[in-house]
Amino acid sequence: MIEDLWYKNAVIYCLSVDSFMDSNGDGVGDFEGLERRLDYLQGLGVTAIWLMPFQPSPGRDNGYDVSDHYGVDPRYGTLGDFVAFTHAAKQRGLKVLIDLVVNHTSDQHPWFRSARSSPDSPYRDWYVWSKTKPPHAHEGMVFPGVQTTTWTYDREAKAYYFHRFYEFQPDLNTANPMVQAEILKIMGFWIQLGVSGFRMDAVPFVIARKGPDVSGEPEEQFGLLRLFREFLQWRQGDAIILAEANVLPKQDLDYFGDDADRMHMMFNFQVNQHLFYALASGDDRPLVKALKKTRCRPASAQWALFLRNHDELDLGRLTEAQRQTVFSAFGPDPGMQLYDRGIRRRLAPMLGGDRRRLELAYSLMFTLPGTPVLRYGDEIGMGDDLALPERECARTPMQWSDEPQGGFTRHPTPANLPISGGPYGYEHVNAAEQRHDPQSLLNWIERIIRMRKEVPEIGWGDFSVLDAGAPGVLAIRYDWRNNAVLCLHNLKAEPQEVAFATGLDGDGRHLIDLLTGERSLADGNDRHTVLLEGYGYRWYRVGGLDYLLKRSPI
Ligand code: GLC
Repeated sequence: MIEDLWYKNAVIYCLSVDSFMDSNGDGVGDFEGLERRLDYLQGLGVTAIWLMPFQPSPGRDNGYDVSDHYGVDPRYGTLGDFVAFTHAAKQRGLKVLIDLVVNHTSDQHPWFRSARSSPDSPYRDWYVWSKTKPPHAHEGMVFPGVQTTTWTYDREAKAYYFHRFYEFQPDLNTANPMVQAEILKIMGFWIQLGVSGFRMDAVPFVIARKGPDVSGEPEEQFGLLRLFREFLQWRQGDAIILAEANVLPKQDLDYFGDDADRMHMMFNFQVNQHLFYALASGDDRPLVKALKKTRCRPASAQWALFLRNHDELDLGRLTEAQRQTVFSAFGPDPGMQLYDRGIRRRLAPMLGGDRRRLELAYSLMFTLPGTPVLRYGDEIGMGDDLALPERECARTPMQWSDEPQGGFTRHPTPANLPISGGPYGYEHVNAAEQRHDPQSLLNWIERIIRMRKEVPEIGWGDFSVLDAGAPGVLAIRYDWRNNAVLCLHNLKAEPQEVAFATGLDGDGRHLIDLLTGERSLADGNDRHTVLLEGYGYRWYRVGGLDYLLKRSPI
């Protein structure tokens, strides 16, 4: 049954084991600590957890430089701890997704060590080599300003190797059938240990043709996506792949597969960037365009909606003028910007800690078409430490309480220090304090999650953008199985009166405000008039008093 697609009405919470909760006092988060915090996550209402890489790694790219795909980094625990965790999550009805990093490995991975040691190594062809420096070696860097090349000479191999990312992350030769078979084996391994799917890292690069003669935009081998999907579905029917693919809308169907035979989910980078532009400028028109451009997807596929993630806020798909607008609103200092395209701050400081704007941003994330993905710490409005390099500034430990080290660890001097002092320090911003305050951001997020789960129309339905007659007010209606929901968002700081018709006859004249329970009826011309506060928002169920009776079972 189509209702079985759990990811359609899920709320995903992304975290790094490393910085979530330390149980043994060694200063590093671990699986046991995470397990103890599962009740917190269940209480928050999230339904799935996405774990960032926790496999053994030299840790030069926050774990995205994996040196053993079949293990748990000893700092975080053992495979036994991992299984205890997936079991405990399952008992609470929480799904677990893990990062699948197979575009590249660490240069310390035994495969690469063997490959570089001899041209006759069985792993030589698992990587991408060139005897001479390829002509495009200074193109295609993902981290401009930090990374200077995509081909680095290896003295031991006496050859250049290709790396789309940092030089310590040699790319796997994913066209090699042996590498493909190994990727399936890795997926099969973790599925067996209790995960419900993968956030696949850097998908366009995983499936790109690689070699010394390749330059320009990636030339994708889409057949690979079908291979991954089929394998996964045969092993475990309800497992999914959530693709990290920052691509143009015209390519969306290539990734989803027009027969729903490729990726189940993708992050909607297009909407993400235009959403930040809308928040910065008060102009919702480019966001509406982005929503319409990414409307098309197979019925069983789903967008993942997010505000901030563990990387920089990538604004590379905006026009130069739009990007500058977002920079000047949310990251005016060069030190807040990164890689010539993005902002590296957390959400709360970007929005000046303004509660009204935070609620507006979250309300949008929870009501735009797709499945919301929260990042740990954002639920309490955590800040960043811009003294840390690159993206590390937004990866500081979770702030649990006002105890030393924010309750994250008993260790007096952990390597990854929680933010202390200032408006975002753990002394002021922490989960314990917010739990006890009914008006806190944490409790508001909990309420909005509960509400979002009760409105499956957003995850499942079709949307239409209504004319609210006021610039900067976004009005979206969702329809699903004879039910309709309407969401209004005022992107401007000033209050605005909006007048609109729901576009539905009869019952469409009734609105129930889902946040307050208030009911209202349209005027004689079938129009509703609402006064929205500056940055105000409303969620309505359309259809009035008897909607509960009429509502189809879900
Ligand atoms: C993805 C990750 C990023 C990482 C990169 C290389 O873009 O999100 O954090 O640095 O892949 O693995």
